[in-house]
Amino acid sequence: MANASNRRNETIFVPGRLISHFNGRGRFEQAAGWSVLWDSEQSDLWDRGKPSPALVDLVESSSDLIPKPDPGIEHRPKALVPGCGKGYDVVMLALHGYDAYGLEVSQKGVVTARVHAAGQLAAPSKDNFSSASQGGRYPASEPGRVKFVVGDFFARDWESDCCSDDQGFAGFDLIYDYTFLCALLPEMRKDWARRMSELLAPCGVLVCLEFPLYKDLELPGPPWGLREGIYWDLLAGGGDGLIQDEAIAQDARQKPAKGPFIRLGYVKPERTYEIAKGTDMLSIWRLKERPRSG
Ligand SMILES: C[S@@+](CC[C@H](N)C(=O)[O-])C[C@H]1O[C@@H](n2cnc3c(N)ncnc32)[C@H](O)[C@@H]1O
Repeated sequence: MANASNRRNETIFVPGRLISHFNGRGRFEQAAGWSVLWDSEQSDLWDRGKPSPALVDLVESSSDLIPKPDPGIEHRPKALVPGCGKGYDVVMLALHGYDAYGLEVSQKGVVTARVHAAGQLAAPSKDNFSSASQGGRYPASEPGRVKFVVGDFFARDWESDCCSDDQGFAGFDLIYDYTFLCALLPEMRKDWARRMSELLAPCGVLVCLEFPLYKDLELPGPPWGLREGIYWDLLAGGGDGLIQDEAIAQDARQKPAKGPFIRLGYVKPERTYEIAKGTDMLSIWRLKERPRSG
């Protein structure tokens, strides 16, 4: 699909380095494909150099849609960033009081993230905070835990490395997805949604910074083009998210909501990365089934 060039709307699509690297790699060659890029120091292909401004603002906002660390209570919410890369968002969450875990399939990626975290925890850069928070409530007086784990999101063997006490793995209160879903082969999307439902604590929330919402759905990835309707189909609709047609993506929300998630919020962030061309959206999801109170 991506070997030379594709003609789309009279323009020639020329695959870049990342797409060419993954061209022809099947599902079971994806993880190794990412590790090769880390090992050959090519993380510049996706690295944005700072935490997500949209997530910084959400964490510092007064929104009660996501769990927030409470300074008076010892229990800290537990956050996961799957496919965390250099770990910018992991460190930022810890600086806001979360116990934050970063999952990476690449050993070299985890080593790189640990180096980044050590520097930032010692001397946090201003990118970790909104301009409104400078000199205010953040950074948290006691940052939460930062832990990077080597593992495959689609396997379960790493979950035991994310237990903060003797209680065993009880799920995450917050999971953040940025450029992880779009990094996966489309045929892996359904499993992405299933794993998200397994990894969330019963009252936890999944936050997606939806990207790239502008990219032609028929073009190859990574990043693979996504739409609001694809996230909806996967999480609320219970579908496989294999949508390449704009009209079908538009109509996805009309289908019966057979999926495990409910969307709590859908907002356009005031700040996000420039690469999004002004199209990024934040979606916030929780599981339908929640424990009964009392
Ligand atoms: C496009 S990069 C995004 C990195 C990070 N979210 C960021 O914003 O910088 C995708 C990352 O997911 C990692 N990854 C890919 N497949 C994975 C898997 N199955 N389990 C865990 N990590 C994976 C890759 O090594 C890569 O670092």
